[in-house]
Amino acid sequence: MTVIDELQRDHVNLGRLLEILDRKIIKLKSGHHPNFNLMADVIDYIANYAEEHHHPREDKIYAHFKGRDEQLDQALLECEAQHVELRGNAEKLLSVIDDILNDAVIPMDEFIAHLELFVENEKSHMRMEEIAVFPLIRDVATDPDWEHASALAPAVNDPLFGARLADEYRDLYQQLLDDIEQSA
Ligand SMILES: [Fe+2]
Ligand SMILES: [Fe+2]
Repeated sequence: MTVIDELQRDHVNLGRLLEILDRKIIKLKSGHHPNFNLMADVIDYIANYAEEHHHPREDKIYAHFKGRDEQLDQALLECEAQHVELRGNAEKLLSVIDDILNDAVIPMDEFIAHLELFVENEKSHMRMEEIAVFPLIRDVATDPDWEHASALAPAVNDPLFGARLADEYRDLYQQLLDDIEQSA
């Protein structure tokens, strides 16, 4: 499995959670009251996974493949800018959630708007990488490149952290599914 395969696997996992959040947004808009704590946990998980693990890893891998192909360079520049923007969206959304958890009065519309922006941008960013970045990296990469990239950006530094993330993910995913079904 190459580093790009691993990034793509992250996309599949994050995509599943984002898809459920999309279904939540539809329910929220129709006036349904969510299990807010559960939703906050999921958003926190996605934002932290993306910001602390996935994007920093991509940044290192992308840096290795700069200067090989003009079209790829262009896409990588765009990715870097999007990572900065996504971090801003995530921080904003997490701070709105914090406010709500601390009993501040935040209009539901405002929360939904932040959530929708977060979900939409994360999804379109992943699509962009899958269409415009991953295939071009696969085209230019040689075996030594793959070795170098995986040494530069190991999947998980700490095996315990990796296992904890995987457990947390499975747990959250199941809880979310149960919650959606119960409130269907
Ligand atoms: Fe990315
Ligand atoms: Fe990504």
